[in-house]
Amino acid sequence: MALTRNLRRPTEYVTMLNGEYSDWAFNEERAPRLKSKWREEFAVSSEHPLDLEIGTGNGYFFAHLANTNPERALVGIELKFKPLIQSIRRAVRGGAKNARIIRYDAVRLDDLFATGELNNVYIHHPDPWLKKRQWKHRLIQTEFLVELYRLMRPGSFVDFKTDSRDYFEWAVPLFKASPFMLARETWDLHKSEWQSENFVTHFETIFLNKGQPIHYARLTKAE
Ligand SMILES: C[S@@+](CC[C@H](N)C(=O)[O-])C[C@H]1O[C@@H](n2cnc3c(N)ncnc32)[C@H](O)[C@@H]1O
Repeated sequence: MALTRNLRRPTEYVTMLNGEYSDWAFNEERAPRLKSKWREEFAVSSEHPLDLEIGTGNGYFFAHLANTNPERALVGIELKFKPLIQSIRRAVRGGAKNARIIRYDAVRLDDLFATGELNNVYIHHPDPWLKKRQWKHRLIQTEFLVELYRLMRPGSFVDFKTDSRDYFEWAVPLFKASPFMLARETWDLHKSEWQSENFVTHFETIFLNKGQPIHYARLTKAE
């Protein structure tokens, strides 16, 4: 992961990350300094819920979550500068004071969060890496799930959605073998009992418009 400050030609989004949005957006050098201190950053108690969205994209869900849950704190992780700024800008313009965004590679969550620091985690339509030689790049891996479990508080959940049947077929056995409990599993979210509570993300719209089913799982960490 290239450091933001080493970029030869910083775009307007890079400039915003380190300037106008620096109270809400953290580059890969500033963010790890907040490991174990995210609740202090939000000026909330140690009991306050702190949720995470991985791969916010252009941030419709991120902003929705922040704006509809002012009693919870929300951190987003995004690698690309433009969606990162779109996400935090959307949340802040919606009035959110409870959202922060980090430019980081989500594979390395351990750099950012301490054991038990996180509550609920959302992973919506991660890059599917369809070719066999690319599978190693998929976010969902045995070690990743063990790490995520450690970083989360008992009684929390992970929501995972993908439009890729290949990725879901890969992920479900890993979910079942992980320390989490697989509390929900559907191969067609929009025909399932969980459809009414679902927020349709930007990527989800694209695949729904093509008539593709959305696959969904919820993993829980027991109390
Ligand atoms: C296919 S998009 C989905 C965006 C959004 N969640 C949605 O449903 O519309 C995946 C997003 O994850 C980001 N991403 C991919 N790999 C990542 C990683 N290792 N760490 C952080 N973000 C990542 C990409 O930059 C992209 O914005």
